[in-house]
Amino acid sequence: MIKVKVPATTANMGPGFDSIGMALQMYNIAYAEEIEEGLEIIIQEGSPDIPTDETNLIYRSICHFYKEIGKPVPGMRIIQQDHIPHTRGLGSSAACIVAGLHIANAMSHSFFSKEELVQMAAQLEGHPDNTTPALLGGMTIGAMNEEDMKYVKVKVAENLHFAVMIPDFTLSTEKARAALPTHIPLKDGVFNASRAALLAASMITGDVENLSMAMEDRFHEPYRESLIPNMREILEHAKTCGAKGTFLSGAGPTLIAVVRNVVSFRKEMVEFFGGLEQDWQVQMLQADQGGAKVWIDEELKY
Ligand code: HSE
Repeated sequence: MIKVKVPATTANMGPGFDSIGMALQMYNIAYAEEIEEGLEIIIQEGSPDIPTDETNLIYRSICHFYKEIGKPVPGMRIIQQDHIPHTRGLGSSAACIVAGLHIANAMSHSFFSKEELVQMAAQLEGHPDNTTPALLGGMTIGAMNEEDMKYVKVKVAENLHFAVMIPDFTLSTEKARAALPTHIPLKDGVFNASRAALLAASMITGDVENLSMAMEDRFHEPYRESLIPNMREILEHAKTCGAKGTFLSGAGPTLIAVVRNVVSFRKEMVEFFGGLEQDWQVQMLQADQGGAKVWIDEELKY
């Protein structure tokens, strides 16, 4: 039996649109084993909408891997325990892609390195800011072209806590991408480039006081704001409650604040959310530092 545990991820961290992402301590777990023939998918935990046929994303990722290595896909049973909410900007699709690649890698005895899987996953997803931290953990800064992806992984300071604010409504990546402009003014390019560099350097050096400015963005947040009721008020309120930096997670609608005053921040935000029309849950999480883990017959492989 193969077991894979994959963390949630927040992409577009601050100004790092399609580039900077971070793994969080929230996980999907999948089990898989070969069977004589056919496909059996059991959803033990997670949304009842998860497909249990060939359109299942873990299975599609497995099929992609087998196609790459030129081998037929064997019959298999997959059991999913999903804890990452869907279409909320927390990398649930990337987690399935990563789980599928790891399962196929182990099942086919290919033993591709993590580095090879990082490249394969980034090309499959089209941007590296979810799949790279999902595979490696920490915060990753990635840049890619059609053949290659270069990245740096940064260990996230242990004293940073992330208030992950998840609403009861969904927002599809397609809809959120359709809201983006085709051109960005030069001054916004300068704004984001300077802040992305400041964010990367500040996370490396641990200069938390820079994060308020280093997490500002003009590439996607202003355009996606109208799709997320109360987004601006929530982020402003988070700052008055002590957040060091705030950002829209992935394509949204989840919002994240970097905090140190974990207990008081949570209490104040829960009170604030009580006055809003939509239901928002606040989870206090830390960064996952190690990325996806794989066990074969209960033995941790990597
Ligand atoms: N970077 C991606 C986007 C993340 O913002 O569209 C969601 O897949």
